[in-house]
Amino acid sequence: MIFTVAIDGPAAAGKGTIARAVADAFGFVHLDTGTLYRAVGLKAAETGLDAVDVAKALTATDLDRDDLRTPIAAQSASRVAVIPEVRDALLQFQRDFARRTGGAVLDGRDIGTVICPNADVKLYVTASDAVRAERRYQELAAKGMDVTLETVAKDLAVRDARDAARQAAPMVAADDALLLDTTKLSIDAAVAKAVAHIKTRIEQGRV
Ligand code: CDP
Repeated sequence: MIFTVAIDGPAAAGKGTIARAVADAFGFVHLDTGTLYRAVGLKAAETGLDAVDVAKALTATDLDRDDLRTPIAAQSASRVAVIPEVRDALLQFQRDFARRTGGAVLDGRDIGTVICPNADVKLYVTASDAVRAERRYQELAAKGMDVTLETVAKDLAVRDARDAARQAAPMVAADDALLLDTTKLSIDAAVAKAVAHIKTRIEQGRV
């Protein structure tokens, strides 16, 4: 069975948590596509190599670093993510992943619009700026990172603006995406909504 779930949305809206829970619930494989951009951004910044060359030669080791979730990696990611050739270099890997047998869920910014425009299910996950900043602050602080709520909020605002304004695959909801605003939802409630929506699609026989 090939079944693709595309989850997009702005930074720290809950995409990753929902994507992982959906993958668990249905036995799908999951790809956090932000990891690809974070790995390219960090390596290019550290080595001075051209980001396009880094993207073309990305290795499993690059993706296995334990510092990919830092704010520096996030900013580096969004800087290289504006480069069309970087996006092109990462495109086929993501499309192949989406078509893996048994079902796949991918989360990012352009999954429902560019990577998998024919995905079986598309979700666009949002939350208010304040709630997203608070959630990301708690996540990073729990990992012992030296951050403040203000710097986290600024990081999200800068990245969201850059991600939405870029020419190549800008962050935007696909026309046929279900909008899921998690501002007032617990994680469990948001996951339950996503799972119920996917179940309906499967029952509708779209598989
Ligand atoms: O976890 P968070 O939502 O903060 O970020 P992420 O999903 O790890 O993505 C980091 C950055 O990579 C984003 O700000 C985007 O600039 C870029 N990105 C992208 O352009 N396209 C994707 N499909 C995924 C991430």
